Amino acid sequence: GKGAAMVTAVAYRLAAQQAERQRILDTLRLSREQLLEVKRRMTDGIVLGLSKQTHEQTSVKMLPTYVRSTPDGTENGDFLALDLGGSSFRVLLVRLRSGKRHKVDMHQKIYTIPQETMQGTGEELFDHIVQCIADFLEYMGMRGASLPLGFTFSFPCNQSKLDEGILLKWTKGFKASDCEGKDVVMLLKEAIQRKQEFDLNFVAVVNDTVGTMMTCGYEDPKCEVGLIVGTGTNACYMEEMHNVELVEGNEGLMCVNVEWGAFGDFGELDDFCTQFDRSVDDCSNYPGKQRYEKMISGMYLGEIVRNVLIDFTSKGLLFRGKMSERLKSRGIFETKFLAQIESDRLAMRQVRSILQHLGLTGSTCDDSVLVKEVCSVVARRAAQLCGAGLAAVVDRMRQNRNQNQLDITVGVDGTLYKTHPHFSSIMQETLQDLAPQCRVTFLKSEDGSGKGAALITAVACRGNNQGQH
Ligand code: GLC
Repeated sequence: GKGAAMVTAVAYRLAAQQAERQRILDTLRLSREQLLEVKRRMTDGIVLGLSKQTHEQTSVKMLPTYVRSTPDGTENGDFLALDLGGSSFRVLLVRLRSGKRHKVDMHQKIYTIPQETMQGTGEELFDHIVQCIADFLEYMGMRGASLPLGFTFSFPCNQSKLDEGILLKWTKGFKASDCEGKDVVMLLKEAIQRKQEFDLNFVAVVNDTVGTMMTCGYEDPKCEVGLIVGTGTNACYMEEMHNVELVEGNEGLMCVNVEWGAFGDFGELDDFCTQFDRSVDDCSNYPGKQRYEKMISGMYLGEIVRNVLIDFTSKGLLFRGKMSERLKSRGIFETKFLAQIESDRLAMRQVRSILQHLGLTGSTCDDSVLVKEVCSVVARRAAQLCGAGLAAVVDRMRQNRNQNQLDITVGVDGTLYKTHPHFSSIMQETLQDLAPQCRVTFLKSEDGSGKGAALITAVACRGNNQGQH
């Protein structure tokens, strides 16, 4: 009768809606073939980036770091370290003591950098940093001390020596004027001169990936790769000197900062990008830049999710088609919410209460299930893409060394990696699948970038006995 026909119509509509949701989510799912292709293209980028003749022709910058070895435990002395480029700015005093049970003592203070300062003038930014250093020295009662200093500066920098870093371009949330093309050590020295209160002895500029590799290398000599999956994403690894064509010399190894966040900026990821990636990119600080990073890291994943939810809502597939102002505001899905929503211990009604907390009220249980699925699809793709990039790096190292099987450790840091319940396991699964001849161990770094900067500074000082106390 009529009733049965209506029930059938409703069932039909629900099934069609469900199919439509899955069709949209499928655009965010990558096949094994596609991931292999990502690995292949990353490998091509690495090769082009290392060569003198072709390094302008790729998005993968392969920046020499002038770090030539991982720590050996003999590092010794007191060092200052600065850490700029993650979610906070830190000043650290690091005491390294060599010997069998090498000991590290650290004191640190965390400072916030207001959004206006990150995006104001370069002078304001560096004056603020110097103000924080002054406060730290005061707090530690070390005002007159001139310790050797390592500066972890987590942005792409051209280096022609260890204690210089010419900022190529800002990434992530930073956009201070008049810094690009300049040496950040000089910018900091000038700010110190303006203040006229203290002097510092700069020894090294260090990317956070390199600091992380060094910190983990202090515990495990097999650690020759550094990986960050936090606000941004990037990796570094030990490359054969003779392949690092931008630097004279053929002996030994040098750590190379891949700067893989920019992978895709030459179109390498265009065929895997979705409309959601494109709108996240369009609304970002740097449209067209850091395309790989925008598909992987904590600063952007929540935005991808939000864009999917907006699309679903506008098509009547979520929240009963009711678009809220909240959903339209940028940045509501922080990394911690993504991690919480996907936590296995969480019941659906808790997901619902997170959505409520985010201001997305009026959601049904079905809505919660769908939101969780969106989060999971977006995070899975991120972890797989990251795994594909890492597969390119470790397989290259294996081939460099002419080994059938490579045993290697990757030092990792970053909030997304550390807090997300599934990111690391999906990434490792992908890596295993795409680089089966590499046995990779992951070591989470504690305070990687600051400690690492001190270790690099210590190695550099070893020759001239600075920093020995
Ligand atoms: C961005 C920076 C890179 C850094 C990464 C992780 O990609 O450009 O230098 O290593 O973020 O913080």
